[in-house]
Amino acid sequence: MVNQPHGGKLISRELTGRKREEALKHAEKLHSMTVNSWVISDLELIGIGGFSPLTGFMGQADYENVVKNTRLADGTVWSIPITLPATEEQAKNVHIGEQIALKGKDGIIYGTLTLEEKYAYDKKKEAQNVYGTTDEAHPGVKKVYEKGNMNLAGPITLLNRPDHSQFAAYYMDPAETRQMFKDLGWKTIVGFQTRNPVHRAHEHIQKTALEAVDGLLLNPLVGETKSDDIPPDVRMASYETILKNYYVKDRVRLVIYPAAMRYAGPKEAILHAIVRKNYGCTHFIVGRDHAGVGDYYGTYDAQELIAQYEPELGIQIFKFEHAFYCKVCENMASAKTCPHDKENHVHLSGTKVRERLRNGKRLPKEFSRPEVADVLIKGMQEN
Ligand code: ADX
Repeated sequence: MVNQPHGGKLISRELTGRKREEALKHAEKLHSMTVNSWVISDLELIGIGGFSPLTGFMGQADYENVVKNTRLADGTVWSIPITLPATEEQAKNVHIGEQIALKGKDGIIYGTLTLEEKYAYDKKKEAQNVYGTTDEAHPGVKKVYEKGNMNLAGPITLLNRPDHSQFAAYYMDPAETRQMFKDLGWKTIVGFQTRNPVHRAHEHIQKTALEAVDGLLLNPLVGETKSDDIPPDVRMASYETILKNYYVKDRVRLVIYPAAMRYAGPKEAILHAIVRKNYGCTHFIVGRDHAGVGDYYGTYDAQELIAQYEPELGIQIFKFEHAFYCKVCENMASAKTCPHDKENHVHLSGTKVRERLRNGKRLPKEFSRPEVADVLIKGMQEN
């Protein structure tokens, strides 16, 4: 059975057809606010139901509960604030009950917000509780500090989706993936989050999970990432290549996850699991340092935190040990399965990988499939 949406009901806050056209015409006359790509991707995910049960940007009670207790005000587990930040000046100019048009920097109206609340919030507290640090060198915390000091809150309507035409073949709404799983006859589906190309360790944990379930949803995040991550177009080409050469066609589907990356480690792992539940997954993979960056989180912090909420989350978490290739085993392995010394294990850090690719250097075949390495070298040299 395809999984239940988080909170029980799949949300849709999008208008289409004539209703949309009328709403857009009306929105042009509204007070408008220019928002960044983070806000637009959050708006999209609320609109298409990826963030169910959210129907809008969080009000103060939800916000404070999420930051303090990892729950919405009604007790539903939720780990990351989804907010519409505004400067004090912007907040002064809008009034409770008013509809506001949310515009991108490109002038497109992506949606509207019906303003129910405006409130100040404590950025340091958000940073500490959500990201586990107040260090502005952390890319997610840096974003928090850059935001306006106020949050605007209320239900939204999605009127235009951001342009995903580049990956149109791989864009699906949660309602569509749910239907697709039914059509495929998959009853158990494991979701996989990634912001990287699929290397051997990823392949190993995905396929290990696949031995226990019917299908794999490879669901790479393609929204905003930090500038030194591998760009989504290069990654998408690498996913196509690895799926074609190394996966059973009828056991995997590639669908993009159009969200921004927060690098919030354990708290983001919970959000990632909730969203995949909304896409219909029954299982979700959390491996080593999930959604981590630098040394901010311990290798298994995300697994430990999500385990506390797992019974309530309604999605089963496959937790994997740090996987590597062992030259003695001649196989992918982990500390649970390989008795050999560390010097036999092939490890490469993300930074090392990107450095090699930019210099046109191949990756060891124990680390990356050669076909994938070729696509990445080509892509990284062109970028
Ligand atoms: S993430 O930021 O999107 O989590 P990444 O693409 O590195 O980053 O990881 C995707 C998933 O694979 C995460 O669940 C992560 O924990 C897991 N993972 C990545 N590398 C390994 C590894 N070597 N061993 C086990 N799990 C891993």
